[in-house]
Amino acid sequence: MSENIKSREWKWWETGVVYQIYPLSFADANGDGKGDLQGIIQRLDYLNDGNPNSKTSLGIDAIWLSPINKSPMVDNGYDISDYKSIGKVFGTLEDFELLVEESHKRGMKVVMDLVINHTSNQHDWFIESASSKDNPKADWYLWQDPEPKGKVPNNWLSYFGGTAWTFNEQRGQYYYHTFNKHQPDLNWRNPEVKKAIYDTIRYWLDKGVDGFRLDASSVYSKDKYYRYNPVKFGATDKNAYNNQDQLYTKNLPENHQIIRELRQIADEYGDRVIMGETFIDSPLYDSTIFYGFNNDELHLAFAFEFPFSPWYPGYLQREIEKKELLTPADNWPTYFLDNHDIPRHLSRWVECSLCTNPEGIAQAAATLLLTIRGTPVLYYGQELGMVNHVEIPEEQLQDKAVVKTSTGETPPPRDGARTPMQWDDSANAGFSFGKAVRPWLPVNENYLELNVKAALSDKDSILHFYRQLLKVRKNSEALQIGSWRSLIYYPDEHLAYLRESENETVLVLLNFSYEKDLTFDQPLEKANWQVLLSNHWTRDTMLFLPDKLQPFEVTVLKKV
Ligand code: GLC
Repeated sequence: MSENIKSREWKWWETGVVYQIYPLSFADANGDGKGDLQGIIQRLDYLNDGNPNSKTSLGIDAIWLSPINKSPMVDNGYDISDYKSIGKVFGTLEDFELLVEESHKRGMKVVMDLVINHTSNQHDWFIESASSKDNPKADWYLWQDPEPKGKVPNNWLSYFGGTAWTFNEQRGQYYYHTFNKHQPDLNWRNPEVKKAIYDTIRYWLDKGVDGFRLDASSVYSKDKYYRYNPVKFGATDKNAYNNQDQLYTKNLPENHQIIRELRQIADEYGDRVIMGETFIDSPLYDSTIFYGFNNDELHLAFAFEFPFSPWYPGYLQREIEKKELLTPADNWPTYFLDNHDIPRHLSRWVECSLCTNPEGIAQAAATLLLTIRGTPVLYYGQELGMVNHVEIPEEQLQDKAVVKTSTGETPPPRDGARTPMQWDDSANAGFSFGKAVRPWLPVNENYLELNVKAALSDKDSILHFYRQLLKVRKNSEALQIGSWRSLIYYPDEHLAYLRESENETVLVLLNFSYEKDLTFDQPLEKANWQVLLSNHWTRDTMLFLPDKLQPFEVTVLKKV
């Protein structure tokens, strides 16, 4: 164990587990078919009821809410039209204050999504900025004159498809948008913009929020000369944006200065967190650089290492090893399997050759996420084994932000991973508390069997497995803060790794396929091991290491 581990003062966002709520889809209290804050409040006990021995709750440490501010909802809230208010569809400011209070009562922190790369085009700031070339906010967004013959100012592309420039008649100029044309990018070189955003941040911190997830935090700054982005050599991604090297639109030095300033504000308030989405390509480089060179940028930097990996032990281990190597010693890794932008992992990974056992994948993936070194972030419904809804009728699709281009090189709609949480087998899975209103997205039809109520009373459910795993993690110093060390150099069918802290050693064994001998490249000293959790052994069984792994066996052991 390194000196570093011993001397550190551990924070809640390092030892805890974060749970992402997509508010439109979690729980609908007022029966309008869309999730809301009161719905979340009524379901808080499921996440954490404050009782460490609870028979029904997950024991989550923090919730991250996708955006809940006022928004025309072109991108379901990732297009904010007023930073200081709560969108009507979600409730009121009082509802939010109650949510924070109720969460805190149960020992859960509340993290808000902070979408400050861009606003909605309905934000007063943009409306004013677009009104003329010389209004007080004329320079709050990225405006450029057309090239001769009215052409777009340069070759910059939108992540959501097509050019990143949209012409505005009033100003006779183009404005830049990394995402949809309804999401114009703010001009972060303008000190007034910074001031206005920093004021917003303080507003929410003063209300007691415990931190922010910074949306699109690697693209705040753009080149002031608007130079053309080069082509990325050899790239053939389905999304044309990823085939350009975002040299002048991403990860600029100025971007890091902004994050340092955000960090300073968060730090003024004490124990708050800033976790940032450091998308999009070369995930590891991007993510670890965002910790800053003096631990002065993000507390947690999200990259997409598991979402972009196949379900294959060698790839998964390689991602962990890279992150272990690159994360600065004072910083802390974070991982997730799913979020609101990508297909759910059980849908992504079912096509691999060894995936004859989805239940086994769910258990192994859960164990991987919750036993490697770093803060795990769960996405609502993952703990049930929710899969993507793949048959949403075209007219019911809601992801309006992603645009179809003539070449079709755009990300697919993200609705399939955003369907309502499956609470029980009543109408619409109990999403609207039994009311038979049509939810904003159709419920996945598997809800009759796959729902919280059924899973809570089934000892073999994925939910039950997650609950046990979360408990094991909470009670284990090694799993929370210990170092990580693989016992196999090039794993191809199973993973075996140790988590070691001052007082504890935990061994994790994940078999991705059929029965096999358990061998290690790194010798393991002889010892007795106690089963903490397994889909093969009974809890607390004492083992003198088994020499075989059963098909799809997942076992977590503690050295005694
Ligand atoms: C982030 C969000 C995504 C959103 C985009 C624009 O990538 O996760 O949902 O559409 O930013 O705000």
